[in-house]
Amino acid sequence: APLPLVDPYGRSIRYLRVSVTDRCDFRCVYCMAEDMTFLPKAQVLTLEELERLCGAFIQTGVRKLRLTGGEPLVRRGIMDLIRRLGRHLDTGALDELTLTTNGSQLTKYAAELHAAGVRRVNVSLDTLDPDRFQAITRRGELASVLDGIAAAKAAGLQVKINCVALRGVNDGEVHDLVAWCGRDGHDLTFIEVMPLGDMDEGGQGGSVRADQYWPLSMLRAELAKRWTLTDLPISTGGPARYARVGETGGRVGFITPMTHNFCESCNRVRLTCTGMLYMCLGQDDAADLRAVLRGAPDDDAALLAAIKEAIARKPKGHDFIIDRRRKAPAVARHMSVTGG
Ligand code: GTP
Ligand code: 5AD
Ligand code: SF4
Repeated sequence: APLPLVDPYGRSIRYLRVSVTDRCDFRCVYCMAEDMTFLPKAQVLTLEELERLCGAFIQTGVRKLRLTGGEPLVRRGIMDLIRRLGRHLDTGALDELTLTTNGSQLTKYAAELHAAGVRRVNVSLDTLDPDRFQAITRRGELASVLDGIAAAKAAGLQVKINCVALRGVNDGEVHDLVAWCGRDGHDLTFIEVMPLGDMDEGGQGGSVRADQYWPLSMLRAELAKRWTLTDLPISTGGPARYARVGETGGRVGFITPMTHNFCESCNRVRLTCTGMLYMCLGQDDAADLRAVLRGAPDDDAALLAAIKEAIARKPKGHDFIIDRRRKAPAVARHMSVTGG
């Protein structure tokens, strides 16, 4: 197996997150603007190009692929790509092929995903209340996502629920989410909202996102009122720190980009659907791999060299700060561009 690429800070790059489309059937308030203009097709990598790029990353030592979006399952032909990428699991070149999804298409795809070698999916679900779900996603329907999650479980996929902690929005529901996930056997991770894209949701003239920011130390203190949490020394390769919930036997994780920076152990880079390689979610530097790919259609050597060069400039970390007086986001691009 190839040795991984190592960045200037000694971090091995084993995890590639690939945004396969900028489109989504939802418009979550912290992720997209209400009226999004999507990319013209010519700019978006074809499925063949995505496959080739993923193959190149695997040659550089990447062992884990996560498809994101937008919503990965709204991309036409996505199952063809997933099946092709799944072959790298069969050869042992890849340890894990997985997805982060909003769950709306899982009833349709769960069984096929499992057949292609996917064993785990992360589903975004911030609330169990149908009206609140509608308000957060702007056009999602809770029932379809719950059905999707059930279908995933029935197909043998392990499910992790991602919940963005939003003060004044879903903070009253955290106990219910822990209980529900415990009962259904899903891992649950809470995430600190990051200052990306649009801080002034719906143009209300303030810094709505900053007002909603809820540090997870506070969320954890709230959970501790009702649940016995014991830290677990496990990792799924992502940034969450997990604890066991004594009463349910389930696991709850905390992703704390704002208060407990995990950049020193970062093992990942992100590819957008236009072939831009971002070395960090919270920085603007990117390498244009589409230009290299389209400039040398049969030359993997050029691609590998470009990837290597990009990783050699991976920054030490992000510099997110959340400040109510500052209305500008730390990073102007929306989360849906970089895929979370
Ligand atoms: P697993 O550990 O494999 O389950 O996945 P993951 O937590 O890496 O992936 P997921 O797509 O579920 O991401 C959950 C949240 O963590 C999302 O909000 C991501 O934006 C955030 N996240 C993942 N990686 C990073 C990172 O490198 N930096 C920052 N700041 N946030 C990250
Ligand atoms: N801050 C934190 N998490 C976010 N996500 C989307 N936008 C943000 C943000 N601004 C989450 C989604 C999804 C994951 C990929 O990223 O809820 O679960
Ligand atoms: Fe779509 Fe996920 Fe962004 Fe929501 S968070 S708009 S479901 S990509």
